[in-house]
Amino acid sequence: MSVNEKLAIEGGTPVRTKPLPQEWCGVHHMDEQEIEAVVRICKSRSLFRYYGLDPQKEVATLEKEFAASVGTQYAVAINSGTAALQVAVCALGIGPGDEVLIPGYFWVATAGAVLRSGAIPVLVDCDNTFSMDPLAAARKITPRTKAILVVHMGGVIGHITEIVALARRHNLQVIEDCAQANGATQHGVKAGAFGDIGIFSFQTNKHMTSGEGGMLVTNDPHLHRRAFAVHDLGFPRNEAGRLIFDDPSVQLWGIGCRMSELTAAFARVQLGKLDRITGAMRSAKNRIKKALEGVLTFREVPDPEGDGGSFLLTMLPTREKSLRFVEALRGEGIVADRGGFYPIHMDQWGLHIYYNATNLVNKRGISAISPWQLAENRASADISYAKGTCPHLDDLLSRTVLLCIASNLTDDDVADIITAYRKVAAAVC
Ligand SMILES: Cc1ncc(COP(=O)(O)O)c(C=O)c1O
Repeated sequence: MSVNEKLAIEGGTPVRTKPLPQEWCGVHHMDEQEIEAVVRICKSRSLFRYYGLDPQKEVATLEKEFAASVGTQYAVAINSGTAALQVAVCALGIGPGDEVLIPGYFWVATAGAVLRSGAIPVLVDCDNTFSMDPLAAARKITPRTKAILVVHMGGVIGHITEIVALARRHNLQVIEDCAQANGATQHGVKAGAFGDIGIFSFQTNKHMTSGEGGMLVTNDPHLHRRAFAVHDLGFPRNEAGRLIFDDPSVQLWGIGCRMSELTAAFARVQLGKLDRITGAMRSAKNRIKKALEGVLTFREVPDPEGDGGSFLLTMLPTREKSLRFVEALRGEGIVADRGGFYPIHMDQWGLHIYYNATNLVNKRGISAISPWQLAENRASADISYAKGTCPHLDDLLSRTVLLCIASNLTDDDVADIITAYRKVAAAVC
């Protein structure tokens, strides 16, 4: 097909008529192994991590295997990424009077974890990686700043080394939200191994899944004990699973977000497939980018060899062109099966974008008193979250198109995506 052919939305022939697969990365790789793992736990009638009729110790084993895969000393299995974020914030002792730097391209739970602890999130603009800009972060540091919470969106790690160096200079903690970047690396270091704490999600959209689930990783034994205590009953446990009561520095309030043996058994199988899943997405994404080099502009990825691969972000010159680009791609048959959302204009990417999170923009609390009203946060009370707070991100979002890269694209699917992008670029750009 010639790139100069008439667009399908103008009456031309579409590049393809068969929808692309949906984006559920880990789901496409499920097979008998997950079923066997779950059945084994059911047969043991031992679904709880600490005891049962015939404990299989799946959660404890997953924690060891996950820590080893990320390259950290410790891991705590948790029942969601949202809860893992909350545990991370509690483990670091973040609370009223503290500010935490967060990016504007995030998931709403990222800001929520900070707010539920009584601290104040402070938005930081991005660079062309769509991740937090280290220079912009430096400008937002105040005497109240306690931590930097970076989010590796869509499998891409931004300028993390510079962020960690900045944090170290100012004695700040770094949390990495790796919910969307499980298995991603930068120059050989895994997402989650750069900061003080990394968190992951195993929800169904994520690189590996158990439907719901999460993980927290750290190299710090004290943070590990605190995180373990918070995720459980508020106290750490010894090797035998007995609660430890004699260390006040790890006596907290537990939020009861443990992982079940069923989830862990499933997640262990998926962990074994993680490299294959991310490898498939990375390969497809990098082939598409390479074929379109010089034709279109993509998100900056500091280390494409470590890209998690799940999203392709294409920046168009103007908002009008980007809206037309999405419409034309859809017309060419670049649509996901059964109501999958992509391709999508990034403005419409819901609670991933700070100004779409009306609870943040309108400074809602989770009880009658919001963190912005606390006396300890008086100095941070005027911080704004309205559109315009992150001008570079706002500009990028207004003209960027997102395509999810399914983990089971065939060579023909990849070829059709390239053809459609070329055809639409020739007509729209
Ligand atoms: C960046 C990010 N952080 C945190 C989460 C929360 O994870 P979960 O859905 O497991 O609670 C998500 C999930 O979508 C996410 O994308």
